[in-house]
Amino acid sequence: MGSASFFFVVLAAAALWLAVQSLDCGDYSDEVLSINYSAFLSTEWINKELSPSEVFRYKDGTTVRPILLRSTRVGGRFHRWSFGAGFFCASPCDLFVFSVFIVTNCGLSDTVFGTSEPQIVWSANRASPVRENATIELTTHGDLVLRDADGTRVWSSGTSGKSVAGMEIRKHGNLVMFDQKNVIVWQSFDHPTDSLVPGQSLMEGMRLTPNRSATNSTKNQFYVTVLGDGLYGYVESTPPQLYFSYPPMKDVKTVSDPTKATFQNGSLRIIVQKETAEYLAFIYYIKLPTSQFSQYMRLESDGHLRLHQWSDDENQWLESDVMEMMSGDCAYPKVCGEYGICTNGQCTCPHESNTNSNYFKPVDDRKANLGCKPLNPISCQDMQHHELLMLTDVSYFDNSHAVVNLTNRNDCKQACLKKCSCRAVMFRYGQNDSNGECFWVTKVFSLQSIKPEAAHYNSTAYLKVHLSPSRRYNSTAYSNSSSAPTPNKRKVILAITVPTTSILVLLLIVAILYLQRKRKYEDSDEDSEFDNLSSGMPLRFSFEKLRECTKGFSQKLGGGGFGSVFEGKLDEERVAVKRLEGARQGKKEFLAEVETIGSIEHINLIKLIGFCVEKSQRLLVYEYMSRGSLDRWIYNCHNNAPFDWCTRCRIILDIAKGLCYLHEGCRRKIAHLDIKPQNILLDENFSAKVADFGLSKLIDRDQSKVVTMMRGTPGYLAPEWLTSQITEKVDVYSFGVVILEIISGRKSIDHSRPEENVHIIYLLQEKARNNQWIDLIENNSDDMVSRQEEVIQMMKLAMWCLQNDSSHRPSMSTVIKVLEGTISVEADIIQSFLNANSAMSVQDKPYPYSVREASILSGPR
Ligand SMILES: *[C@@H]1O[C@H](CO)[C@@H](O)[C@H](O)[C@H]1NC(C)=O
Ligand SMILES: *[C@@H]1O[C@H](CO)[C@@H](O)[C@H](O)[C@H]1NC(C)=O
Repeated sequence: MGSASFFFVVLAAAALWLAVQSLDCGDYSDEVLSINYSAFLSTEWINKELSPSEVFRYKDGTTVRPILLRSTRVGGRFHRWSFGAGFFCASPCDLFVFSVFIVTNCGLSDTVFGTSEPQIVWSANRASPVRENATIELTTHGDLVLRDADGTRVWSSGTSGKSVAGMEIRKHGNLVMFDQKNVIVWQSFDHPTDSLVPGQSLMEGMRLTPNRSATNSTKNQFYVTVLGDGLYGYVESTPPQLYFSYPPMKDVKTVSDPTKATFQNGSLRIIVQKETAEYLAFIYYIKLPTSQFSQYMRLESDGHLRLHQWSDDENQWLESDVMEMMSGDCAYPKVCGEYGICTNGQCTCPHESNTNSNYFKPVDDRKANLGCKPLNPISCQDMQHHELLMLTDVSYFDNSHAVVNLTNRNDCKQACLKKCSCRAVMFRYGQNDSNGECFWVTKVFSLQSIKPEAAHYNSTAYLKVHLSPSRRYNSTAYSNSSSAPTPNKRKVILAITVPTTSILVLLLIVAILYLQRKRKYEDSDEDSEFDNLSSGMPLRFSFEKLRECTKGFSQKLGGGGFGSVFEGKLDEERVAVKRLEGARQGKKEFLAEVETIGSIEHINLIKLIGFCVEKSQRLLVYEYMSRGSLDRWIYNCHNNAPFDWCTRCRIILDIAKGLCYLHEGCRRKIAHLDIKPQNILLDENFSAKVADFGLSKLIDRDQSKVVTMMRGTPGYLAPEWLTSQITEKVDVYSFGVVILEIISGRKSIDHSRPEENVHIIYLLQEKARNNQWIDLIENNSDDMVSRQEEVIQMMKLAMWCLQNDSSHRPSMSTVIKVLEGTISVEADIIQSFLNANSAMSVQDKPYPYSVREASILSGPR
């Protein structure tokens, strides 16, 4: 190490000292403590005993030797927890991992910390820890290299050849190397290990894998990954077996933008983008508890994805499950080890009921949850000695490997016996045993016993076993009878204890009573609906009538996320009939929503004339708008003459009035959630009306409370879609985008333009900064250029609507006042807009969090 780099190590130590001191919750001025140095110098940190003020040592021996630390302020004060990067060793401290951690303690008691251990959220070398005197070096070539004490290269960031100006730990716990322009060269967020911190996204193709637990060194590992249409959890085997997937219902993804799962304070959001007639983004979110303090989620060695959060009250980390499995904890692949059967959390080994012969024994007699193993190993040499052990009312978590075209129980069994790699088949069926589904696995993890009434299906598991010589002659495995098993052949397995049985019986009775009541209710449903229709309610049509009036749905006006729209004629009056797709809700909920939508009348909102609800059909009949939707008129690909400025202003005011009525004029506040030109319709006189309001509620009300699905259109989505509570202010944001489109005559996201011009919001930022507003005007239209004062005022209004922080956006009634000239746009809008780091405006760039966050303060002083 040269003297220059020695100097930097000294600096680093000083920075550390400062950082550690600041942890005692005092009011220090530097929020960020990081080390900057020139890329031309090599910097090396050695993993060795530092002075007591520079390490965190816990009672049990766990030790952290930080290299970078970042304290976080909560309400102006440093809080108890902070992110750091450095060497970590767990008790008994002998091997170290270079990692990013959260330490939670304020007040450094000389050398020993309390019990709340550091939480590791990322690590470089968890599979190959290093010893005392290992080094981490940022080389002159821009590579971060970890070497063990003997000089063996253990890990590197793989950035050799890149120009690196510094390394820091960012607000959310992202370890970042950046170049002179502060562009990220490498970041730990791109290489997740087992955890996600708030603000971090798991991008399509990335995986979380658990640390192997010290006590259980089994080879089979879990992983959680993001694929094109959602989040998936697998346990490894060949092929991998699926144990959860989100969202449960899939839409086909067709857009190449990566799908991602973003963890935020309060939710895990899975964002899938899809190209339909109107390009949509589907946002599914799993609601999580919010926390004022530190949080992170981790995939653990039992396959659970758990949320960990610090509790100040209890002074410790608390944990809870992120995913709630439909069928409880028994649905986890290793809850009862291999071959174990899980019944209400109890584990047993599979056995035949009416004989006392066994094929399986527990791995450990005292620990049932470690699973079972076959008494005779299954070998492929003598497949003629294979038999299937039948387990009724037993199912399996993985249903992703179906044997296609096998619907018959016996064929399903034979298919498994013929194939050596098959270790079990599951036969799942409803009432009819000859019309089922057959699933196979090549490795058997935990099975679960089910109640067919509750699960709404029957399931039988067949485990492949190897017959011992003495049992080969009374085998029943090859009996070819395809009839249902007779009672004496039935091999029942599960000894359910008396109390659990009675609970189940009780639950069953409750369920039956509930179903009976529900049926009664539904039967009477049909008639009472008509009575309930008050005057002024939209008319109810039969499906036949609507089919007739649209000439068999032949003239399509448009299509979109909610379904297709057809032209029709009712008594000489032209109408638009929308046929909804994906309306999964029941009749009652549908009628309730229709009543709400039908009761809304405003000159700038499309009027709902009637509806149809029949079996699974859901249709809405709207007034017909002869000029079609706004997008056909404003993007300069149309054949019509461009609108003059007055028409543009009038359309903007119309939209604002329609939205204002939805937000402020109705009994119940209605957020539209999908404002865009396709949803603004024009009548003969180019008066604009907002369409499709209330529909997101109609369509996407999800059955489960945990997951919520939302959809909107990229380019119009407000940043808080990614982060926090959704309010009607998301419409204000989208409205701002629409204003810009109306002025500039282009789409908000236009990939046919040069890269720097693709996003209209970026373009606006740049033009506003350089005071070149006029550049945004469509084709430099003379009409608009001559009234540029007004046009620029309108762009400033759009900017106000586009504020990153939803609370800074104006309400729609304020927008109307600005449009009518009674108030003007606040002056500081431009400044705050320019500072905004809009997450959604970069939504098709891979990393919303890479937008520059806090400025980097220089190191120690
Ligand atoms: C998380 O959200 C809650 C509720 O919105 C808020 O009170 C809390 O301060 C947030 N926590 C952090 C760490 O920002
Ligand atoms: C299960 O199968 C039996 C007959 O084999 C049938 O009566 C019953 O309805 C089935 N249960 C379900 C939930 O499909």
